[in-house]
Amino acid sequence: MAGRIPQSFINDLLTRIDIVDVIDARVTLRKTGRNFQALCPFHDEKTASFSVNPEKQFYYCFGCGATGTALTFLMEHDRLDFVAAVETLASIAGVEVPRERGARTDDELHGRLLKALEEANKYFRKMLRQHAEAPRVVDYLKSRGLTGVVARDFGIGFAPPGWDGLKTALASIGEADLVAAGLLVKNEQGRTYDRFRDRVTFPIRNSRGRVIGFGGRVLGNEQPKYLNSPETEVFHKGRELYGLYEARMALRRIDCLLVVEGYMDVVALAQAGLPNAVATLGTASGVAHFEKLFRGAPEVVCCFDGDNAGREAAWKALTVALPTLTAGHQLAFMFLPDGEDPDSLVRKEGKARFLERMGGAISAAEYLFQGLGRGLDLNSLDGQARLADLALPYIRTIPDGVLREMTMERLATITKTSPEALKRGAKMSRAPSPGRRAIPEGRGTSRLSERLLTILLKHPEFLAKLDDHRRARLIGLGDTLLGRVVRHLAEQPEADLASLLGYWAGQQGHETLVELADRPLVLKDEALAGEFDDAVTQCLSAVERANRRAFLEVLREEGSAEALAQYWQLKQKAD
Ligand code: GTP
Ligand code: MN
Repeated sequence: MAGRIPQSFINDLLTRIDIVDVIDARVTLRKTGRNFQALCPFHDEKTASFSVNPEKQFYYCFGCGATGTALTFLMEHDRLDFVAAVETLASIAGVEVPRERGARTDDELHGRLLKALEEANKYFRKMLRQHAEAPRVVDYLKSRGLTGVVARDFGIGFAPPGWDGLKTALASIGEADLVAAGLLVKNEQGRTYDRFRDRVTFPIRNSRGRVIGFGGRVLGNEQPKYLNSPETEVFHKGRELYGLYEARMALRRIDCLLVVEGYMDVVALAQAGLPNAVATLGTASGVAHFEKLFRGAPEVVCCFDGDNAGREAAWKALTVALPTLTAGHQLAFMFLPDGEDPDSLVRKEGKARFLERMGGAISAAEYLFQGLGRGLDLNSLDGQARLADLALPYIRTIPDGVLREMTMERLATITKTSPEALKRGAKMSRAPSPGRRAIPEGRGTSRLSERLLTILLKHPEFLAKLDDHRRARLIGLGDTLLGRVVRHLAEQPEADLASLLGYWAGQQGHETLVELADRPLVLKDEALAGEFDDAVTQCLSAVERANRRAFLEVLREEGSAEALAQYWQLKQKAD
């Protein structure tokens, strides 16, 4: 496993290369005045609305709004992950990518940690058979409907009470390795003790069947209910799926993987004769998870609670999964009745009924349109146009292929247009013409963002409640004070007013924030949340309009006959 790429290197790299070279090698660019233009590689079009600005080193598409740096261009155009995009840029610049740690020593360390984890697994399993308190644990497992066979298949064990059972049993392994493997905890005084105590243990295995961590559940109602291994050199929660190895062992071929939330859900489903369930490890499903899932099976069904939190998590999963939907992949969502989880449901209703529920899962495309269409009147032209506007950016994240075509066709059917018209952007949202604007845009935008900041400072939690696509767009606002605050809050969801102002002390914008924090909020909670929502919408569309106008301005200033023609063409679309 290679080490991290230092951030300073990435920053440096972006100043060394020229975005024009990077894009020109992939898309035919034409110089028009100070900028370059091309047919947009991110959507189908006949006239060039894609523009590259060498001065600011970024690109922008007037047609679809795609925008970013050389790095994001490579990620999106060449479909590279972050590391691969950095490596490509580095090779263009002719430099080596430095890593924070050498690969060789890592391999050695990995081997030692895996060994420690395997020994721990043996120890926990032995304790489930031999420890004086083992009968209590076996009774618990039985009470949850598990048989010895399934407990064995999943390697379920018992971490006994006491502080040093494992530490003593594994004394021959260096203490440092046991700590690095997450098996022992080291306190501030430097003393070490067993991490898992008096818990049922679930070994987490990687795709090759090696134990890389554990989950541990209390036997009663103590807190925390579950304890997971920490992130270690060999255990990365963002990539692993509990139960995938076991599913592969149980099935010759996996047609469909079911993604659930908990360890016990996976095990209970296997017990009920459904060995194809996996769980993410207390984290939301990320891109790496979906890539892994689709390497394991052509079809993936994600199971969520039917409540609001479940729907929010499902939406997030959908947006994350769309770019991984290459040919032959199917994704669907299944929602559980209130108060049930897969474990309770399958035990109550049995395998057949559970399979029926899985069969009723809603496809990713339908879920997308359902989610975006909520509150729109799809019988009206306006509602249809709005849905097309909302859905196209999502559909464009699906890799080019049959699935994207089919989703386009489905959108065309719902919005009563043709896929061709959608691709041409015929239903692109209309920006108001300059004549109709009462307030100069710049000031309007900044007033709005001040208002947003005033509310956010006192109610940082509003940000998390925002739907994903608007939150993502706020986060992408760039180097404005609002953009910076939003990004800070997205990264530090726990932040409150005091910590935020503290963090900003000495940074640009601190005074403004202090002043805004002082402004009283007249409205109370619910009404305020509504105002926040409206302000976000207004702010985002103002920014969009401002971006469009800025680009029109650039075109006009360039003054060439061609640029001017382009200007009028785009302006017509914008009005
Ligand atoms: P049971 O009560 O055993 O049925 O567990 P469950 O799987 O139904 O638990 P729940 O739905 O509460 O949690 C689902 C998953 O979230 C678990 O499998 C854990 O991965 C994680 N989780 C739950 N509680 C905790 C906790 O207290 N700490 C941590 N770190 N993770 C937890
Ligand atoms: Mn449960």
